[in-house]
Amino acid sequence: MSLGKKDFLSIADHTTEDLRKILELAKEQKPLARDHKLPHTHPNRTMGCVFAKPSLRTRISFETAVMQLGGNSLFITDQEIGIGKRESIYDVAKVMSRFVDAIMIRWYDHDEVVQLAKHSDIPIINGLTDLNHPCQVMGDILTIEEHLGSIDNKTVVMVGDGNNLANSWINAARRFPFNFVIACPEGYEPDEAVMSAAEKDGASFCVTNDPVDAVKGAHVIYSDAFYSMGQEEEAIKRRKDFADFRITNELLSAADPNHIVMHCLPAHRGEEITDEVMDGKHSVVFDEAENRQHAQRAIIALLMK
Ligand code: CP
Ligand code: NVA
Repeated sequence: MSLGKKDFLSIADHTTEDLRKILELAKEQKPLARDHKLPHTHPNRTMGCVFAKPSLRTRISFETAVMQLGGNSLFITDQEIGIGKRESIYDVAKVMSRFVDAIMIRWYDHDEVVQLAKHSDIPIINGLTDLNHPCQVMGDILTIEEHLGSIDNKTVVMVGDGNNLANSWINAARRFPFNFVIACPEGYEPDEAVMSAAEKDGASFCVTNDPVDAVKGAHVIYSDAFYSMGQEEEAIKRRKDFADFRITNELLSAADPNHIVMHCLPAHRGEEITDEVMDGKHSVVFDEAENRQHAQRAIIALLMK
């Protein structure tokens, strides 16, 4: 079994059928992985993990996932490679294609990752760009389905920044029949091109500036930091702009009684989400973190020859 595309750069690049294959394989393999009984289907394969930004979850979940399949991984920071600076994207793509069997890359500019994929002969997996974080959202859908059953017809409400996560959720709403709502301050809306493609596809999503109204009846309330990696200089301004977009118990009182609370992590506890909510009975944030490994292992298994 494999996916119809070579790379995993955006959820929108894949068919619903392929995305379902990933989720089903992840569900099937999760108990085996937890029991250390996964068959080594990818022996001697190497994944290059390239990072231009820090990471806990993405790095460790990818590296352990490939080892669970019998392969191994290389952790490479961009300080070593200097993609586009020390060497052209084209040359890096051609050289790495000779050494490793897949690349996971965490980068800033999404278009540069698209270029890398275009010139590579091996699968390129997006481990977060400024535009998208598709692997996170695949793990998140897995978590939602474990806790609430099928994502179909559910309402997922993100309170916060219209960032890479919001864009990936909108892309997911193009492929799965759920409703996505983002409540963000004015000026912090998701990417225009992502939204217009989703509108054309008839995806069910909406953007509002009213978090209180947005969470009414919500099944999933989703949080992310007020400022993303690379936006640290905007922290002071953003803390002010997002003051009304915090996940608190009070905000959650109007959500569906069985709602779950998610956060991609890392969280700034006490800022975008309170300790009470993070550690509360509706929170599934650590299941969510674990599911990064299970969802990504399925992506690797389906893409890597
Ligand atoms: N959620 C996530 O991608 O975490 P890291 O930045 O730690 O990889
Ligand atoms: N939006 C955040 C997600 C971190 C996992 C960032 O890009 O830094």
